[in-house]
Amino acid sequence: MKPNSVSNQNITTSEHKPFNRRSFLHSIGIGTAALGFIQTGCSSDKKEGVKGNQVIQGFEKDSSSTTSRQWIAVSDKKVKVGIVGYGLCQFGAAFEFQNHPNVEIVAVSDLYPDRCAELAKACKCSKTYPSLEELIKDNSIEAVFIATDAPSHAKHAIAALKHGKHVAVAVPAVFGNLEDADRLYEAVKSSGKKYMMFETSCFHEDLYAMREIYKVGGFGKLVYSEGEYYHYMAEPLASYKDWRVGLPPQYYPTHSNGYYIGVTDGSFTEVSCMGIPSIVKHLQPSNNQYKNPFGTEIALFRTNEGGMSRMAVSWDSPGDHGEKGRIRGEKGSFYGKYEGHETKLPNLVRPGLPPKVDEGGHGGSHGRLTDEFISSILQDRQPLVHIAMALNLSVSGIVAHQSALKDGELLKIPQYKIWS
Ligand SMILES: NC(=O)c1ccc[n+]([C@@H]2O[C@H](COP(=O)([O-])OP(=O)(O)OC[C@H]3O[C@@H](n4cnc5c(N)ncnc54)[C@H](O)[C@@H]3O)[C@@H](O)[C@H]2O)c1
Repeated sequence: MKPNSVSNQNITTSEHKPFNRRSFLHSIGIGTAALGFIQTGCSSDKKEGVKGNQVIQGFEKDSSSTTSRQWIAVSDKKVKVGIVGYGLCQFGAAFEFQNHPNVEIVAVSDLYPDRCAELAKACKCSKTYPSLEELIKDNSIEAVFIATDAPSHAKHAIAALKHGKHVAVAVPAVFGNLEDADRLYEAVKSSGKKYMMFETSCFHEDLYAMREIYKVGGFGKLVYSEGEYYHYMAEPLASYKDWRVGLPPQYYPTHSNGYYIGVTDGSFTEVSCMGIPSIVKHLQPSNNQYKNPFGTEIALFRTNEGGMSRMAVSWDSPGDHGEKGRIRGEKGSFYGKYEGHETKLPNLVRPGLPPKVDEGGHGGSHGRLTDEFISSILQDRQPLVHIAMALNLSVSGIVAHQSALKDGELLKIPQYKIWS
């Protein structure tokens, strides 16, 4: 179906399934009250996320994130940005580009004209393009934020880099395809442009603290770490071309893997992963395009330090949800707080934000991810979640899924390093 033939109130994301975004958000609010399940995985859009007095889980403000450092401008320059993608999660407008003092949003795009118009309104931007492919031809645009469907991220990022743009992209960096990872790595390296994946866990308050303590040696070598991304999807979420229907859990591994790779900037070298055939219909192999039989996949990774990580992704078990993790090292552990040998801890307060920039959803990570990306361009340095970290976070999950399909066979994982 041609995208410009659908209206916003009746978005058709596959040939046969009409889908209404507003009623999706409302229906999970209602359905979940009864089932004890309310989780969208989407952003903190306040208008859509609050129904009466009920706040939909995943949209709630993180009550712990009350403090941050003062923000200091690194430049008075404005980076000219293009924004692409205003789908189920309305992510194009969720990361505060429109409020950042070092950003001018030049143009926006979504394949659906009505979404494109809504994105333009949310970004206070009058110029629109019918597709990413058209937007990146605009020579005035220096950087793009890509919030399109996950299977398109690698293709879209490579196209934008080839047109000389810096790239920020929603997770994951690559989707189910290891060759795309090598292609993306080469495209970033040869472009000389900045590339950052917006891994939301990397600016959670706890993960930020873990990283700062790790850098000063407060954990020593990490012996064991564990991360989870739990997001109950009893019904398929109708995203663009149905990419979330039957999604292999470890194709979406970055939120859990962040609790090792986002702490150390290391990698996983090998994996044994197991799954259990799902009782959820869309997660049964005959009902999805991936022929995926699993709704939960539990990976045991060997880390580049020689330690172990247990990383879980689950779509088919209701209850506790979100992006979480803990770590244990030779000199200390972090289970909600640091306990260990180091007595002089570094400043663990997260970076501050420009006056009009809200820290946003997913544990107050949205505004900080944008500020980090824009600062990396202005300061001509690698961003926190650079291409090697983005690929180490993403590729390990693809191999984990392969392992699960082979009943836990131990498989090697390709390694990525940032060049100096
Ligand atoms: N915590 C997190 O980090 C988190 C949470 C939610 C979603 N996400 C990610 O955010 C992204 C967006 O999620 P979503 O649920 O809104 O996706 P979606 O599939 O609902 O929407 C994707 C949108 O991209 C648009 N698009 C696709 N190709 C395009 C092109 N060539 N040009 C212009 N527009 C194009 C589509 O028209 C669609 O509106 C996904 O990659 C998802 O993985 C991350």
